[in-house]
Amino acid sequence: MDDPLLHPGWPARLSAGPVELHPLRRRDAAEWSRLRVANEGWLRPWEPTAAAPWATRHSPAAYRAMRRTIARRARAGTSLPFALRVDGRLAGQVTVDNIVRGALRTGSLGYWVDRAVAGRGVASLAVALVCDHAFGPVGLHRLQADIRPENGPSRRLVERLGFQREGLLRRYLDIDGGWRDHLAYALLAEDLPDGVLDRWREMSPGRHGDRST
Ligand SMILES: CC(C)(COP(=O)(O)OP(=O)(O)OC[C@H]1O[C@@H](n2cnc3c(N)ncnc32)[C@H](O)[C@@H]1OP(=O)(O)O)[C@@H](O)C(=O)NCCC(=O)NCCS
Repeated sequence: MDDPLLHPGWPARLSAGPVELHPLRRRDAAEWSRLRVANEGWLRPWEPTAAAPWATRHSPAAYRAMRRTIARRARAGTSLPFALRVDGRLAGQVTVDNIVRGALRTGSLGYWVDRAVAGRGVASLAVALVCDHAFGPVGLHRLQADIRPENGPSRRLVERLGFQREGLLRRYLDIDGGWRDHLAYALLAEDLPDGVLDRWREMSPGRHGDRST
């Protein structure tokens, strides 16, 4: 059972416009596997280094094992693992991980979307919804996003949402076969008093971000 005292704001469903976020589900294994295998070239440059072949690491069985681990972390209050749907189809993930409470109240943001839905504002809309949820019901004060300098789309996404660049983390993560520098971006709860979704709407050419729940 999820314990609301251990993890306020979890489990949760969030939605706005064509975007819906919900906890990762066991029955999404086959759809997730198909999506991750089809997106190998798109995702690999930003993924942790691993010895096993991509197809093995993204099989339905691998999904089920990953989901079990991450569901345990969610129950323990250290992760918010959301599946992202666009117009009802699985299209990516948004996760706040490594949540620390106490005086720090921080979490690390991670996300990916299917290449087929990129460039339309749905990834930033999803991240905006998760940020507002993390600063609201979950009660965090800081969200950090660590991004490789060469990841233009990801840097544009967080910059548009108001994240500030705080520094360079040298050879910080073992990604795609080597230790890679990362830029540390962060957003604080008080940075955007009207919320991150409001900021997304200001920055978006076509505003389809009406919150529906
Ligand atoms: C990083 C990633 C999620 C960014 O996705 P994205 O689709 O580029 O991000 P957005 O949803 O914010 O879309 C941005 C584009 O949509 C446009 N857009 C924004 N709001 C819009 C709206 N309401 N209607 C239509 N278009 C809109 C923007 O103008 C922007 O275009 P531009 O980049 O040409 O300026 C994606 O590139 C990805 O999954 N990459 C692989 C994994 C990865 O890098 N993960 C992050 C590791 S740190």
